[in-house]
Amino acid sequence: MIVSGSSSQAVAAALARELEEPLAAVEYDRFPDGELLAAAPDVADRDVERAIVVASTTSSDAHLEVLQLQDAVREAGADEVVTVLPYMGYGRQDKAFEAGHPISARAVARAVSTGTDRVLTVNPHEESICDFFEPSATAIDAADRLANPLPADLEDPVFLSPDAGAVELAETVRDAYGAGATDYFEKTRLSGTEVEISPSDVAVADRDVVVTDDIIATGSTMSEAVGVLGERGVGRVFVTCVHPLLARDAVTKLSRAGVEAIYGTDTIERQYSAVSVAPSIADEL
Ligand code: R5P
Repeated sequence: MIVSGSSSQAVAAALARELEEPLAAVEYDRFPDGELLAAAPDVADRDVERAIVVASTTSSDAHLEVLQLQDAVREAGADEVVTVLPYMGYGRQDKAFEAGHPISARAVARAVSTGTDRVLTVNPHEESICDFFEPSATAIDAADRLANPLPADLEDPVFLSPDAGAVELAETVRDAYGAGATDYFEKTRLSGTEVEISPSDVAVADRDVVVTDDIIATGSTMSEAVGVLGERGVGRVFVTCVHPLLARDAVTKLSRAGVEAIYGTDTIERQYSAVSVAPSIADEL
């Protein structure tokens, strides 16, 4: 049985269809003191062997909801609890940045670990965060799905990543698209919202470019990259990412930079979630 967190209703429903498993009803309440209650009465009503809790932890409440749903399904008698975090919040805080800072990804992973037998997450920023979980944790690569919404008529395309770390993603999207070159920019992060992008050597004049990253958060990285391309007579520019977090004015930044379209997956449910990662998750289950 699939049990959806409120942040992941579309991907959970798609996963239920893929696996031909029932989708549980989830009930919510909020107490006068602000505390949340997420419950799964459907699981209690049936003899469920495997409960799959699907929830992207995009907020503190979403984190809490995962812990409650894990506990609810276990309490209701599920023999096996699988936790799918399509997007794992705090995953990018995978080290202590200064003395006295927490390793937040590890702290979150430890909490999630207490209520589950297995964890799946999609394209974490660093695969090594899977080691922070106590039960086995698997990183699913769903980047190939990003080729689906791209136009079929890309002109001599170049698939670029905004930094060397994401070049494999760009290669995966290129391979799934079936044509094109790949390259990457050099990125220097100046602050949480400012980055500096150095151009790659690849010729982009009159060519369509697809810039691919694991996540668009503030949009600084992508808009800087697209700005560099604009100075070089590029054709159309499409931006793709697995996790379309798109915080604050990210969409405005990208639009001002001149992007033709933004395509993300449903690990984070936004209007730009053009493709589902459910088939990739289903393959692992
Ligand atoms: C960092 O290395 C990641 O791959 C992304 O490039 C980054 O987190 C995106 O953040 P923002 O959209 O805030 O620049």
